[in-house]
Amino acid sequence: MAPATSGTQTALEATASLYAKVKDVIPPAEWTLFADDIVAIQRLKKERKALILAHNYQTPEIFHGVADITGDSLALAREAERAQADVIVMAGVRFMAETAKILNPTRTVLMPDLRAGCSLADSITAEDVRTLRAQHPGVPIVAYVNTSAEVKAEVDICCTSGNAQKIVESLGVPSVIMVPDKYLARNVAAQTSVTVIPWEGACEVHERFTPDDVATWRESYPGLSVLAHPECPPEVVALADYAGSTAQMSAWIAAHRPARTLLLTECSMSANLAADYPDVAFVRPCALCPHMKRITLKGIRKALETLTHPVTVPDAIAARARHAIERMLAVA
Ligand code: 13P
Ligand code: SF4
Repeated sequence: MAPATSGTQTALEATASLYAKVKDVIPPAEWTLFADDIVAIQRLKKERKALILAHNYQTPEIFHGVADITGDSLALAREAERAQADVIVMAGVRFMAETAKILNPTRTVLMPDLRAGCSLADSITAEDVRTLRAQHPGVPIVAYVNTSAEVKAEVDICCTSGNAQKIVESLGVPSVIMVPDKYLARNVAAQTSVTVIPWEGACEVHERFTPDDVATWRESYPGLSVLAHPECPPEVVALADYAGSTAQMSAWIAAHRPARTLLLTECSMSANLAADYPDVAFVRPCALCPHMKRITLKGIRKALETLTHPVTVPDAIAARARHAIERMLAVA
């Protein structure tokens, strides 16, 4: 490792207590590359009166290094709604930034990288939803928050992975349409008597886990606790000890402190939890979300320096999308 410059040395000293927390998941040489940006971001946050919301899939230097609030989609939506900061930086993907803007339209909401999309959100359009409605007259449409603002504007209510069953049952109807994740729809259908009509979307990260993978990991690591995100195929969820949103999985780990665990979800989340719970051994197969990984410290620093890229949602779309999101927040 090259010797640190005096500026970097100062930044390393300023971030020493942060590093103590993540030292087992970030090598010292990498932290040397991060420290300057972390110090600059901490300063810029004060200057801009900015708040950084980070999803559980962000890398540890973001999650533990600069985020003010971390959580799952539901928690980030709630926090965005009540945020008083002038600027909200969304360390997450586009639908999360749009949701923040829709719920708190007077704030500047920044996306550090406009390419941070989502395979689920990309799998359905507003036109597709209108077609579904025409095909199933009178059947309410529930949209996973992993959708564009235009899609949310066409549906009756939103849900997240943490409240999907509750939302579906709150409607008090025999059948619902659920878009766009076919696996979330089937996982919810398995828990309720409501008939769930799915759309054929899938998450490119979670759809790859297979029952064979789970069997192999269990054989390799006896006593392993397996947790699954409900975007995984139902055959995989059926083999897990617990299934829930990213926040619900974190809460499960906090409560149960398994000796060894495997999270069937995006792998940065395991790194973030490993820093929080050194007593838990995480089996960490690589399952990266390429969209979440568009967000970097350098991107966040630039976003705060230049106030890029502000998210906008046309008023007419935002008003209708807000109705679907707020209806969800009222139920959940
Ligand atoms: P959570 O709401 O459970 O955090 O999930 C968001 C997501 O994108 C999962 O892939
Ligand atoms: Fe979308 Fe899957 Fe990435 Fe989550 S992990 S943001 S659902 S592509």
